[in-house]
Amino acid sequence: MTIAAPLLSESSYWYLSRASGFVSLALFTAAVALGLLTAGRVHSPRWPRFVTESLHRSVSMVAIVLVLLHVTAILLDSFVPITLVDALVPFTSDYRPLWVGLGAIALDLLLALIVTSLLRTRLSLRVWRYVHWLAYVSWPVAVAHTVGIGTDRLWVLVVVAVSVLAVVVSGGYRLAGWRRVALRRPM
Ligand code: HEM
Repeated sequence: MTIAAPLLSESSYWYLSRASGFVSLALFTAAVALGLLTAGRVHSPRWPRFVTESLHRSVSMVAIVLVLLHVTAILLDSFVPITLVDALVPFTSDYRPLWVGLGAIALDLLLALIVTSLLRTRLSLRVWRYVHWLAYVSWPVAVAHTVGIGTDRLWVLVVVAVSVLAVVVSGGYRLAGWRRVALRRPM
């Protein structure tokens, strides 16, 4: 059963879900890239590390709000028969089960991130960090969901390609950071 909501016209929910989906993907990409740059200790005198770190936190929070808006709009859109269970339990949806299922996995991983970040002071740093690495899994899953669910515009693929490039470049800085630490370690 989908949630019936006559507050907006049917097409408004479609526009809302698409727009919030794209903005959340862009912000999610920025959050992952900023996280990689923070962990890679990328900084300069004009751009200290705490700026990247606080940007990472703020952008992540806004991205999560946008993802929740995206899912809410989908649930309210009576054109697509998707339920809350479909949105949370992967591959249970009758509508495009694979691609909606990937969206559900990305959402579940994000929810795990939110819960562990809220409980951060009660968890060991190691557990929190392991769960936080789920973001690296969640992001490509969200990208696969975006591409697979039915992208019909070239600009969408361009946005996705730029997002992938941004994360690959930031990942390069992260790996370079690891290498620097390994080289500094005494034999
Ligand atoms: C991190 C989580 C997610 C991100 C970043 C995301 C992103 C996106 C983006 C960018 C689109 C637009 C694709 C296009 O039109 O070319 C989209 C579409 C869609 N998403 Fe998600 N999504 C996420 C999670 C979910 C979840 C959990 C569901 C299940 C309720 C879902 C269901 C859909 C559906 C049904 C569409 C197609 C909307 C339509 O065109 O009618 N998404 N998503």
